[in-house]
Amino acid sequence: MGSSIRMEPAAAGCGAVLHGVDLADLDDATWEVVHRAFLDHGVVFFRDQNLGPDDHVALARRFGPIVVNKFFPESDVNPEIAEVRKEPAQQTNIGGGWHTDHSYDEIPAKGSILVARALPSRGGDTLFANMYAAYDALSDGLKKTLCTLRAVHSNDHLYGEDGIYHKTDLAGMLQGKDLVGEAVHPVVIRHPETGRPALYVNPGHTRGFEGWTVEESLPLLQFLYAHASSDAFTCRFQWSPGSVAIWDNRSTWHMAMNDYQGERRLLHRITIDGVALEAA
Ligand code: SIN
Repeated sequence: MGSSIRMEPAAAGCGAVLHGVDLADLDDATWEVVHRAFLDHGVVFFRDQNLGPDDHVALARRFGPIVVNKFFPESDVNPEIAEVRKEPAQQTNIGGGWHTDHSYDEIPAKGSILVARALPSRGGDTLFANMYAAYDALSDGLKKTLCTLRAVHSNDHLYGEDGIYHKTDLAGMLQGKDLVGEAVHPVVIRHPETGRPALYVNPGHTRGFEGWTVEESLPLLQFLYAHASSDAFTCRFQWSPGSVAIWDNRSTWHMAMNDYQGERRLLHRITIDGVALEAA
């Protein structure tokens, strides 16, 4: 690690903060440090960055090709940047429950880069959970069972014609009702870059285990959700102007707090394309 770069854990079981990095001007050695931290810690936080929209796109391209979210509003500044926006009059926020981005796609997203643009005076933190650590802490017996299972992930219940979001005051800003779909992935994936096993179900998008009914799936899923979102595997990021979070969607979940009613919050998100996921 370069002498001016310092890394500290964000919490005991999740995430890291990297100091001494200018994301708008990354040399190859520093990029290696950022990429390694992303793979090892699942989510990496940066403070006091000056990352314009073009820099944001350039940073994302170092991770891989960009995949544009089908449902979020595009930003005016660049169609490859999605807006995660909540206006003062809105009650509902985007991403207000635990999820991982694009798990409903056959090729789920590799990572996401979120940049603070306008923040409420307080609140609006983002929580992250580490799915390597959550998996590692399960019993050998449950691990063995989970490794035989696949799960169905969908977005219809959120973004479809009758989806939850279309019953809220977010409806006007969302698009792509007709682009909904589902995909099936292993419940425990072998991470395509680190080779580590990670739990790959999430409360936002997973509908049930393949070949099981929703009712049969729910008790085990609920156990896994309560386990994976416990304090031991989570961290909380408090945004400030210039903050950036980069996370690995294969090994983390995230959730945006909705505790700043009456204020505006705008973040720019770019999602990076991944690869099909294989079982551990
Ligand atoms: C998201 O990407 O789900 C939004 C996260 C946030 O707004 O903090």
